[in-house]
Amino acid sequence: MSYSIPAEKISEIKHSADILEIISDAVVLKKAGRNFIGLCPFHTEKTPSFTVSPDKQMFYCFGCGIGGNVFTFVMKQEGIAFPEAVRFLAKRYGVVIVDHITSTGVKNQMDERDILFQINRQAMEFFHHSLLNPQTGEAALSYLTRRGLPPRILTDFKLGYAPPGWNHLTTFFSQKGVALSLVEKAGLISRRQNGNGYYDRFRERIIFPIFNTHQQVAGFGGRVMDDALPKYLNSPETPVYSKSRSLYGFFQAKPFCRQTGDVFIAEGYMDLLSLHLHGIQNAVATLGTAMTEEHIRLLKGVSQKATLVYDSDQAGIKAAQRCIELFKAHHQLEDIRILVLPEGHDPDTYLRQFGAESFRNAAIEASGVFSFLMDVAVKKHGLSLEGKLRIIQEMEAPLLALTDGLARLSAIKDLAERTGIDAGAIQEKFRKTHGSFKAAPVKTMPEAGNKFEKHLIAMMLQFPEIIPDLIEKNLIEYISDPLLKSTGTDILSCFRKMDNSSEQINDLPSIVLMAVDTDEKKRLIASFSIQKEEWGIDGCRKLIGQIERNQKRDNLRLLRQRMKAAEESGEHELLRQLTQECLDGQVSAGG
Ligand code: GTP
Ligand code: MN
Repeated sequence: MSYSIPAEKISEIKHSADILEIISDAVVLKKAGRNFIGLCPFHTEKTPSFTVSPDKQMFYCFGCGIGGNVFTFVMKQEGIAFPEAVRFLAKRYGVVIVDHITSTGVKNQMDERDILFQINRQAMEFFHHSLLNPQTGEAALSYLTRRGLPPRILTDFKLGYAPPGWNHLTTFFSQKGVALSLVEKAGLISRRQNGNGYYDRFRERIIFPIFNTHQQVAGFGGRVMDDALPKYLNSPETPVYSKSRSLYGFFQAKPFCRQTGDVFIAEGYMDLLSLHLHGIQNAVATLGTAMTEEHIRLLKGVSQKATLVYDSDQAGIKAAQRCIELFKAHHQLEDIRILVLPEGHDPDTYLRQFGAESFRNAAIEASGVFSFLMDVAVKKHGLSLEGKLRIIQEMEAPLLALTDGLARLSAIKDLAERTGIDAGAIQEKFRKTHGSFKAAPVKTMPEAGNKFEKHLIAMMLQFPEIIPDLIEKNLIEYISDPLLKSTGTDILSCFRKMDNSSEQINDLPSIVLMAVDTDEKKRLIASFSIQKEEWGIDGCRKLIGQIERNQKRDNLRLLRQRMKAAEESGEHELLRQLTQECLDGQVSAGG
């Protein structure tokens, strides 16, 4: 391996990290027997097939086939490479990795992300102090107070102030000996056009630090205190900040979303803070960008439902249509509501004028995406015959986006009720235009081997104590499927390397998982390790007997074929040998 983290460190981290704890951070899990299940964060599904086994410290999704151990999960979830995942978990579980000098790019990249987070954190502290220091922050503080934000919110969200001037951060970081090229990479300063030195990106602005899900400071937003433009300025895309992956307030909202199973999605920084202030803490803000798949992925990990809050019909319509696009494959359209506030109000102004209770009541009344769009269409086209036909036409795309049969049926019913056109007729029209409305099947496990061979490999992982028996009978040799055979061989070689303490043996699946080289095998191992144990150890032994008998039978058939060939070609000596083998085989197969 090309990275420098010693194997025993990796093993220490693996043993300290709890897969249930790590995955629970991103997925709502429910107990189901010995395992936990939830909606897969890596593909879109409506019924949970994502399974976590705390016993085996593995996960597997029976829907899309992604599986592995705690490292695999962190890699996929965070979009990082193995060494980064190891360091990520090391940090979280307080395992100290002493760095060895290496020249690999991966480690440098990792270090750089770490450094950028640290730079951002220091900048956040700088801005925060500038706000709280009356000498620099008086005007900013009085602006925020005028906007109704009490000190508690300022500290909870670590709001700050970037004073006027061009080189506060440049000086601040130079004095600390931080390379300015890295501060530039963090998006905090820019190079001067003439090439001489740098200048601050954020000047004379209120600063809103943007945390990622791990409470690292990923980036910043900055608002002017007057009518200057742009009103808001955000961090540029950096190695640690991407606006399509960031939701303002997400870190703070997470526990409240889990508690309520619901989340409010607003558009602005001030809206988010105002929602918090009014006790609506299960809320995030998208910061002026449209919802992205990444946003949905983040939110899905903490909440089943969502209410999008908009300040005008037009914004609501745009968002609803965007949702339809996004949720086409997500099967979750029906859990999304659109709340449009009265003309001229955003959540912030609405809450200040009407209060939290009124906001909550309005949210209860909010429509689902489909009926919201239907209302819009009715308003637009009216209910003349002509209008009704237009409405049905306009609802075609949203209807097609509902891949869930029941949801679609209920939407058709709504549409029929609203327009007074027969539901059967509407359905017929769509069937004519689009054929049957079948959802595309999801890709599952690589299809491998016959039933017995699959069982054999699963057994090795689930009951490693039978492996010596398999070795003695040489059963792996006879597996016909190449993938299964090679996986079986990998398991054997891991098994041989272990000392035979029972603690180690239980660890076999996870050890094998780390040892195999292809994704295909990793999936296979995760799936076989986690799948329901249909038989106990006795069942395993029976199965071994059965496989052995099958193989003898196959061998005999082969022998007979060879005997026939030998007979036809007149090879008498070979024929004699084969006959003897055949008799021996029958004796032992019969006994
Ligand atoms: P306040 O005026 O402070 O109440 O902010 P607001 O959130 O009500 O502002 P607005 O409705 O104009 O914008 C909603 C969100 O869009 C903001 O919170 C920002 O995240 C984003 N946004 C608004 N204006 C700009 C801009 O000029 N540049 C960028 N990058 N984002 C903006
Ligand atoms: Mn506002």
